[in-house]
Amino acid sequence: MIPSSGAERAGYVQAMFGRIARRYDIMNRLMTFGQDLYWRRLLLQKIALQQNGRMLDLGTGTGDIAGEALASGKTALCVGADFALEMMQVGRLRAAKRNVRWTGSDALRLPFAGGTFDAVTSGFLLRNVIDIDVALAEQHRVLRAGGRVACLDTTPPPDNWLRPLILLHFRLIIPLLGWLVTGQAAAYAYLPSTTEKFLQPEALQQKFAQAGFRNVGYQRLMLGTIALHWAEK
Ligand SMILES: C[S@@+](CC[C@H](N)C(=O)[O-])C[C@H]1O[C@@H](n2cnc3c(N)ncnc32)[C@H](O)[C@@H]1O
Repeated sequence: MIPSSGAERAGYVQAMFGRIARRYDIMNRLMTFGQDLYWRRLLLQKIALQQNGRMLDLGTGTGDIAGEALASGKTALCVGADFALEMMQVGRLRAAKRNVRWTGSDALRLPFAGGTFDAVTSGFLLRNVIDIDVALAEQHRVLRAGGRVACLDTTPPPDNWLRPLILLHFRLIIPLLGWLVTGQAAAYAYLPSTTEKFLQPEALQQKFAQAGFRNVGYQRLMLGTIALHWAEK
């Protein structure tokens, strides 16, 4: 059973990512048919980082977004922050990510002064945090005025003729693949179950606006099962 709220849920999420860390990247490639690489590049376009920009990638995991940002050559400082140290330890072994400044921290209590970053990114973080409003308030606080935020996450599948096929992929194929590749079926049952209960993109857009962001936009990807949001401080 997934704990429904509070510190117990945060501990569950942290331990779960610790267990799947070594196979996390390969599972992403398999279950998204390699599309996750393209979404991360699209997310980086939305923050439009200037040369020598300072960025923070929250819930960085193995650092795929941070590594891609460094490869663009624009960022002078790329901090990757996560509370699952095992995920970052896997990322640290990759040469392309050697310049990421790995930081153990909780997305709900960031250890950075206000206005530190030009951009804050997150991939598949918000669905996991126990308080989205606090997470967005923290992202807003550490951004400089005019800085940009962008976030990718899964989103409840749209109500159309594809829904039964998408639910089959979510409820059967992903847990089965997760069990075969990582041996952790529960972690890959957690993904579809939290996705189906997560906010619709319009509701998440409103949360960004309530946190004080402006020009909040979003687009759906992957047959409507992924949402990319972006905004400015
Ligand atoms: C699905 S992974 C995403 C990793 C990476 N961003 C990506 O795009 O592949 C979610 C990550 O968020 C982290 N996470 C969840 N809640 C967190 C929190 N409150 N503070 C810091 N990291 C958190 C998890 O430990 C995990 O590494």
